[in-house]
Amino acid sequence: MNLKTEDLENPEGQQAALKTSQTELLALFNAIQDVILVLSAEGKYLKIAPSSAPSLYKPPAEMLGKTLHDVLPKDFADRIMGCIRETLNTKKTVKIEYSLPIADQEVWFEASIAAMDENSVVVVARDINNRKQLEEKLRQQAQDLEQTLQELKLTQTQMIHSEKMSSLGQLVAGVAHEINNPVNFIHGNIEPLQDYTQDLLSLVELYQKYNFDHHPEIQEFIDKIDLEYIKEDLPKMINSMIVGTQRIRKIVLSLRNFSRMDEAESKVVNIHEGINSTLMILKHRLLDIQVIKDYEKLPLLECYAGEINQVFMNILVNAIDAIEQQFYQNKLAEIPEEYSGKINIKSRVIDSQWIEISITDNGIGMSEEIRKKIMNPFFTTKPVGKGTGIGMSISYQIITERHGGKLHCQSTIGKGTEFIIQIPIH
Ligand SMILES: Nc1ncnc2c1ncn2[C@@H]1O[C@H](COP(=O)(O)OP(=O)(O)O)[C@@H](O)[C@H]1O
Ligand SMILES: [Mg+2]
Repeated sequence: MNLKTEDLENPEGQQAALKTSQTELLALFNAIQDVILVLSAEGKYLKIAPSSAPSLYKPPAEMLGKTLHDVLPKDFADRIMGCIRETLNTKKTVKIEYSLPIADQEVWFEASIAAMDENSVVVVARDINNRKQLEEKLRQQAQDLEQTLQELKLTQTQMIHSEKMSSLGQLVAGVAHEINNPVNFIHGNIEPLQDYTQDLLSLVELYQKYNFDHHPEIQEFIDKIDLEYIKEDLPKMINSMIVGTQRIRKIVLSLRNFSRMDEAESKVVNIHEGINSTLMILKHRLLDIQVIKDYEKLPLLECYAGEINQVFMNILVNAIDAIEQQFYQNKLAEIPEEYSGKINIKSRVIDSQWIEISITDNGIGMSEEIRKKIMNPFFTTKPVGKGTGIGMSISYQIITERHGGKLHCQSTIGKGTEFIIQIPIH
């Protein structure tokens, strides 16, 4: 403001100066985007500056002379009254953030409340909706990022896992293939060998019958090698070799069946074969566990057999773990009652479209809280080094996403767990 001293010396000059300063002040207020108001200690609206603020709660005429409680929602009026008291008591500026419904929209404000004198305060409220919207957008973006990160982590684990499974599968398939040839070689020769040895033994008997063995040197040799024992033992040896090679052939078949490396695409398979191969591979862990199979005749299933077998493997290994835990729990609690682990495997046709496999164990079971989380990636209740928490999440993925099926679990703590797999036939 440009006032010269001589202007203030006469009353007209003073009037004019006042007028100029009022106009200037008005212009200043008009340029301000904030809501500026003066309230009494009792919360009465004393003045509302004629600013250009676009967002007033009500027109000034409806507020002036009224109290906060007349104009605003009660909770909010209480809150402002609290601030007024605080700023009058402490003489410090109080800052608050709040939102008010203005023209069908929730508008956010940031207000500073400061004491003017003993009995009134000035409130400067600024519309911060843009900032709030930006904050909300940022929060949303952060949340989206978090979600993407989780998904990426899962994908990474799955890639590592499927890479491991596929190299393991290739290894298994390779070993199985390499063993298959020599085993077939032995197996194919063993029956003629059995015949030949039988013939040779019969020949020796013939020599003995016609006393060709009376020569002392021959007699001595017969005694030395214990011919009687050889005659008895040789057929038995050959028999057990036959049983052995048959067993190896079966294992090789199971390994090939399980890894299914030759079948990266979906194929029509007998699902029971997959379960049986998986059981065969887990045989060493099933020594003390009774496996009860209750198979219904199933149609052939169109699926990614190697992956489905992986699901059986994950569920069966968990069942074995749960049974072992139950066993040790009982032992710790010195429960004398005889406990024996059981796994029930049931299969059935639901209708012309779906089949169902259920795998039930009488292991340690789990609480409802845990049951809800088991399909989450990395969720495990097992000690570090034993549990990875990826078996069930991958199984879930394989059944639901890859095959359009369903995987459910029900469990009673201390009693056991049932997994139900439902898969569409085609
Ligand atoms: N048959 C079961 N009985 C009891 N708990 C189970 C069973 N199967 C899965 N769980 C629970 O689900 C969790 C996750 O299983 P999984 O994804 O295979 O990871 P991991 O076996 O490495 O812990 C297990 O740690 C266990 O708490
Ligand atoms: Mg597991």
